Amino acid sequence: MPTELSSPPTLFISRPVHRTLTKRVVKLICSAFLSLLLAACVLLFVLWLALRPHLPRFHVSSFSVTGLSANGSAPLTFSFEVAVRNPNQEIAVSYDSVFVSVYYRDDRVGTAVAPAAGPFFQPPKNTTVISGKAAGVAPAAAAGTVAREARAGSVVFRLELASVVRFRMSTWDTHRHDLHVSCDVEVGPDGLSTVGSKDKRCYIYFL
Ligand SMILES: *[C@@H]1O[C@H](CO)[C@@H](O)[C@H](O)[C@H]1NC(C)=O
Ligand SMILES: *[C@@H]1O[C@H](CO)[C@@H](O)[C@H](O)[C@H]1NC(C)=O
Repeated sequence: MPTELSSPPTLFISRPVHRTLTKRVVKLICSAFLSLLLAACVLLFVLWLALRPHLPRFHVSSFSVTGLSANGSAPLTFSFEVAVRNPNQEIAVSYDSVFVSVYYRDDRVGTAVAPAAGPFFQPPKNTTVISGKAAGVAPAAAAGTVAREARAGSVVFRLELASVVRFRMSTWDTHRHDLHVSCDVEVGPDGLSTVGSKDKRCYIYFL
């Protein structure tokens, strides 16, 4: 019976061999998994670098007020032009209606009755100009102060835009985000925006 004699020694050595083999396989799987994880991270990072979403940029390209010389006895009328830039290479932005108001400190001194822009779609690397008028319905509470400040040299208004946006990449869409844009504009006694406040970047935030 040569087989019976030879099998016990085989069984006897195979245990430790089996144990080291298991250890090796576990090690191999672990390192393979870690390498895969690292590769996935690198790939994601490169993808993020390539497609990195940038927020849209807003600049007030023109702003003027009429009615300042009435010394606060008549409502003010504002004309504005805002340049909206989508700086993304691949990502488009779709906007709902854009609503505009003008504030002096906490006092709303002008509202645009109609949206300044209807829903629009902005392709990558596109600049769209939104323009319109906003007016106060009655002389604002702060109208006297506004007129005084303007006569003294300059007065700062805040142009605020609100919309709902979605970012789009081919067929993939993000959720709707409430977009708020706030631009400080300084006007002189003539009602025109001062040179220093031209093309200043607006502050943008989501709610
Ligand atoms: C507004 O006030 C200024 C300074 O007091 C005066 O010179 C100007 O005539 C006034 N304008 C009106 C329309 O009342
Ligand atoms: C931006 O996109 C709009 C709408 O697609 C288009 O009408 C306009 O010409 C574009 N502007 C530029 C500068 O590409």
